[in-house]
Amino acid sequence: MSNTHIPVITIDGPTASGKGTVAQKVAQHLGFHYLDSGALYRLTALSVLRRNIALDDEHALAKAAQHLHCHFSGAHIFLASEDVSNDIRAEEVGNLASKIAAIPTVRQALYGLQLSFRQHPGLVADGRDMGTVIFPHAGLKVFLTASVEARAQRRYKQLIEKGVSAIMQHLLKDLMERDARDINRSSAPLRAAGGAYLLDTSEMTADEAVEQVLGWYAATRQI
Ligand code: DC
Repeated sequence: MSNTHIPVITIDGPTASGKGTVAQKVAQHLGFHYLDSGALYRLTALSVLRRNIALDDEHALAKAAQHLHCHFSGAHIFLASEDVSNDIRAEEVGNLASKIAAIPTVRQALYGLQLSFRQHPGLVADGRDMGTVIFPHAGLKVFLTASVEARAQRRYKQLIEKGVSAIMQHLLKDLMERDARDINRSSAPLRAAGGAYLLDTSEMTADEAVEQVLGWYAATRQI
């Protein structure tokens, strides 16, 4: 049976904009499923790194995405049976994810897997193209932004809390490079979907952003 009647909220935005935290909290509040689509690109990147696949071997890259044996269990993410929740957050993996995400055949290979997350009673999906490509008919679309400085600060804090050393200048440079790649690629570039609500969280806490998204969602239910 078609699942297009199952509600979807899309939350797109640039790297380190806080969309993951906000999307997870919104999903938790509504009792909805959660899709971290960036994790699928990161899992593909990790698999590519481990198998030493060359960046110019498009066929092998798409195949790695197509045959991604992954599953999600709460906050844990598994590749085959290995818990790779931390490994996929490494900066090296994120950078490679951004590079392979520019390849249309890789994106196509992950399309069906993303659709399969739309299950009762609803889904909150976060990424870059959730509202533009994957769920263009979502009932609520949000585009979350924050200044590059605010995002670099957040990433710096996260890394230091994890005991990973970080240099602010490098983080800023990495973020700007990744933004440029995500925005300028021809296949599903990062941009706000038509009808998306824009939310700049530079000066907001995650809870304030969650409240705003829940408010918008409640409003769509009253129409
Ligand atoms: O959200 P993230 O940082 O975990 O995503 C990692 C990379 O994956 C990001 O640089 C771009 C890519 N990505 C994408 O192209 N489309 C998505 N829907 C999600 C992520």
